[in-house]
Amino acid sequence: MSGERIFRVARGGAGETARYQEYRVPEGDRVTVLDGLLHIHRYLDRTLAFRYNCRAMMCGTCGLRVNGTERLACSTRLSAVPGRTVIVEPLRHLPLIQDLMVDFEPFFDAWRQVKPAFVPARAPRESGQAPDESVRVPDEPARIAPDAPERQVIDRHRECISSAICYSACEVVSVSPEFLGPAAMTRALCLITDSRGGAREERLDLLNGERGCWRCHTHTTCSELCPKGLDPTAAIEQVKRILVRRSLLKLVGVYRPAASESSRT
Ligand code: SF4
Ligand code: FES
Repeated sequence: MSGERIFRVARGGAGETARYQEYRVPEGDRVTVLDGLLHIHRYLDRTLAFRYNCRAMMCGTCGLRVNGTERLACSTRLSAVPGRTVIVEPLRHLPLIQDLMVDFEPFFDAWRQVKPAFVPARAPRESGQAPDESVRVPDEPARIAPDAPERQVIDRHRECISSAICYSACEVVSVSPEFLGPAAMTRALCLITDSRGGAREERLDLLNGERGCWRCHTHTTCSELCPKGLDPTAAIEQVKRILVRRSLLKLVGVYRPAASESSRT
């Protein structure tokens, strides 16, 4: 298939009323939305601002909305977009910088809140503290067996590329900007499931709080649109089950904070 498509692109900067500008873009069987934007930038309008990097669904920087739905520009072929006109707009819920470029800060702020890096369960010797000789420092890296229950949970949720597509699509973020959002909570599930990890109670307390999982209305849009096939809705539901179980165990006085939940949820 070949021909021409009309790109109707949102233009403008922070605080400005969005206006739309139209461009004619050649179409082909494998032409993507990102190819169309690059064509505009190269041949028609050098002032158009948008972001991309890998062109291979790996960096997560090219997220935007195509005809109202969140997509990666680099993996969305024009042949899969119905109609002659392709409306291209920036992601929602993130401050606009210019045209299709947004500021990811609110998304990464939520990400930071859940402590997204692995925290070892027992730091052997933290700076400024006397060495604890009762803590044995393992000689080998700790491993999780491929068939371990926690591995099944973590594998399903670990390939996030921080595209913020789920964050933009989430209707709860629309009404509650303080909501942590699907990606941050999915990351948190991976970390609280890892039996080698620490900071588990802190993460659970955060997820149990005002910004956490109980705000999720299970719309499932995040899972439908995630370009990496992650299932944030299922991750959030699992976090809810872990929290309910934790509350019940606390109620009867048998909760052991250090225990992994992975094999029991
Ligand atoms: S969970 Fe999926 S949609 Fe959300 S940021 Fe990660 S890769 Fe993007
Ligand atoms: S350019 Fe990297 S994910 Fe699209």
